Amino acid sequence: MTYIFQKTISPDLLIQYKEPLEITWSKDSFCEHFDNKKSLNIELILDSKFIGILIGHYLYQSQDVDEFEILHIAILPKFRNKGFASNLMKELEKILKINEKSLKIFLEVSSMNKFAIKLYEKLGYKAYNERKNYYGSNPINPSSLQNAILFAKTLNAKT
Ligand SMILES: CC(C)(COP(=O)(O)OP(=O)(O)OC[C@H]1O[C@@H](n2cnc3c(N)ncnc32)[C@H](O)[C@@H]1OP(=O)(O)O)[C@@H](O)C(=O)NCCC(=O)NCCS
Repeated sequence: MTYIFQKTISPDLLIQYKEPLEITWSKDSFCEHFDNKKSLNIELILDSKFIGILIGHYLYQSQDVDEFEILHIAILPKFRNKGFASNLMKELEKILKINEKSLKIFLEVSSMNKFAIKLYEKLGYKAYNERKNYYGSNPINPSSLQNAILFAKTLNAKT
């Protein structure tokens, strides 16, 4: 089994896999994201086939610190629970930490998304805030309201 990480993702590919990757963005937000010079996206390829993505962008960059936000990470359903998302997240850290700066990575997740929360906690992300009823404000089914949990991880320059 060989897999590679590729930093060139086409928005068309993501639109094709929108459903299995559970991406809720509109086509316009995709195009806006891919046009932004601060975005960084990683595609995971297994035996020449696309199996997952990580989509993110820099929030802030200075001489001493880079701040980055993961906007979405997803693995195609039949490849889940095999460690691929963990490897994708570790690859992101390697790509971002190519210099001597500190690095802060932020992300948010629904409090109902148990597998994603396990993934982030396992990799050392710490919850620092919770937004009540942030997702799914559906007037027909108010019980679908979900809290957002905000996670962050800091990697210091010398670690
Ligand atoms: C969340 C998601 C990216 C995880 O991808 P993955 O490749 O399955 O994750 P990994 O295999 O690296 O698993 C990471 C940890 O999550 C937990 N986990 C993942 N899937 C699990 C399952 N089916 N059952 C139990 N635990 C599971 C485990 O704790 C696992 O670590 P461990 O195997 O060392 O115990 C994937 O489920 C997904 O694509 N979900 C849909 C999109 C999504 O919700 N993205 C997050 C948006 S914020």
